Amino acid sequence: MGIVDNSTKERNRENILHLFHSMQNRKNSKNYIPENERKEIAQTLGLSIAEVDGVMSFYHLFSPTPRGKFVLRICDSLSCRISSSLEIYEYISHELGIKRGETTKDDIFTLEVVNCLGSCDTAPNMMINDTLYTSLTIDIVDNLIINCRNGKEKSV
Ligand code: FES
Repeated sequence: MGIVDNSTKERNRENILHLFHSMQNRKNSKNYIPENERKEIAQTLGLSIAEVDGVMSFYHLFSPTPRGKFVLRICDSLSCRISSSLEIYEYISHELGIKRGETTKDDIFTLEVVNCLGSCDTAPNMMINDTLYTSLTIDIVDNLIINCRNGKEKSV
């Protein structure tokens, strides 16, 4: 019985992640999954909305609140921190005029600070939506911001 329960839970978790990903990455999603869609997911998988929200809270890629077209996620774990992630964060924050968790008034950028992105040997790193950028410098960051503004980066 326990094994069956765990296997069902694991399958539901995989299904949730798949649904989160497809809902959030559709065009004009504002990079988030609204409550009515989270309720739909809960109903589809036979879960409560609290369980769906609980899973969502574990994954920084998904959000229950609207975000910009480009979500910049700067890693602030140890390897990135000792490789100047704070300077990268402060530069982006100054350039965009937003702090962590905020979105620009034009809804283009959201700035987030996250834990290890799993690429410590290439620190400092950040993700823009679901793409990882490594060995960042201020020049690279400048180009990435320009590319986002010019529509050269993948957006939702
Ligand atoms: S510490 Fe930044 S990717 Fe691991």
